[in-house]
Amino acid sequence: MRIVLGVGGGIAAYKVASLLRLFTEAGHDVTVIPTEAATRFVGVATWEALSGHPVSNSVFDEVHTVNHVRLGHEAELIVVAPATADLLARAATGQANDLLSNTLLMAGGCPVLMAPAMHTEMWQHPATQANVETLRSRGVTVLEPASGRLTGSDSGPGRLPEPDAIFEAALALAGAPAVPASVPVTASDAALLPPRRPLAGLTVTISAGGTREPLDPVRFLGNRSSGKQGVALATAARDAGARVRLLAAHMDVPPPAGVDVVKVETALELREAALHAAADSDVIVMAAAVADFRPADVSGTKIKKRDDVDDPVISLVRNPDILRELVEVRDAASRNQLIVGFAAETGDADGDVLEYAAAKLRRKACDLLVVNHVGQDKVFGEDTNSVVILSRAGSEPQEASGSKSDVAAAVIDRISAELSRVVPPA
Ligand code: CTP
Repeated sequence: MRIVLGVGGGIAAYKVASLLRLFTEAGHDVTVIPTEAATRFVGVATWEALSGHPVSNSVFDEVHTVNHVRLGHEAELIVVAPATADLLARAATGQANDLLSNTLLMAGGCPVLMAPAMHTEMWQHPATQANVETLRSRGVTVLEPASGRLTGSDSGPGRLPEPDAIFEAALALAGAPAVPASVPVTASDAALLPPRRPLAGLTVTISAGGTREPLDPVRFLGNRSSGKQGVALATAARDAGARVRLLAAHMDVPPPAGVDVVKVETALELREAALHAAADSDVIVMAAAVADFRPADVSGTKIKKRDDVDDPVISLVRNPDILRELVEVRDAASRNQLIVGFAAETGDADGDVLEYAAAKLRRKACDLLVVNHVGQDKVFGEDTNSVVILSRAGSEPQEASGSKSDVAAAVIDRISAELSRVVPPA
């Protein structure tokens, strides 16, 4: 694949040399375009040696090859790392004052991924956030920066994601490149086009994993959720173009690259994170296994066994129903938001799985309910899943099964279909 690797003028430029190696070792043909400032951190000779191509940042070099047009036209993927606040601003406002910004303007339909790195204040500044929103609404994938130690004594969100995470996200993106919604598609060429990105410009919040309710500093009440289905959903939503926020309770699997992770432990922490995230989410998917109860008392010190007192009895209090509350908050605010619940059900002598699920959908009042049939050896921790999607609007139950990625793709497709019913495509 022909890749253009744009490098911005930040200290994290040195990490991009490793990213370049990952691309070239995977057999890709990479042209590096550093900005003028980037060459003050890593010299042109390094980029030339590692890429095997001449490197320039001026539109006046190699004029006979019309470089500023050719590179953008020929690129099959453009990756910009580190994307500084200045580069994001220039890209968002369509400036063309160096070879990299020219190339971004000439990029046509090729997928573009930008991996920001800057100090937290710059990242959180409303000007930068507005630029990121603009770029995302145009189908550019702007990764969330990682959190941690920054160049000075400060720390927080603003670190460049690790090169292997950018590599993984970039290749995933290139497998599903953006097609501008304005491109007319005829039946005969539809099969030749890369998949569309139906959630581009939307924010999707997904909860995943199982909450842990502490008994004392070392013990907790937990559940067997692995987080695999929630992570598969986050990956599918990311690949469909959404900005994804993953509210991660305890998970046995790592979160996917390119999503914004908010770690939570307990149901109460998840509730707070979910209500906060709901304010700017177009879609919320509650795939987490939330503990219905928590210990009424949490001991500040480790509970010890003692011969002179009775063994402890754990009494429980009910946790809030987060899904139900999200629906109530949305309705009270008349927000245009799609809310999806998950239900793990078992049948019994009084009713089958679907009857219980239909009752749960009425109780929770969410728009879609994805129903798992759980048994002793089913679903938890497995790599496959089988679900039925019920809709409050009353359409026919839809079945989906296969790997957890297959099920996630079916759920994300269904979410896209529900959204396009509310907001007709442009
Ligand atoms: N859920 C939630 N808050 C809770 C419990 C569950 O938001 N306190 C969400 C889950 O994330 C899931 C859905 O509600 O999307 C259904 O979870 P489930 O445990 O099956 O439902 P419960 O309401 O707990 O019903 P049950 O009495 O069957 O356990």
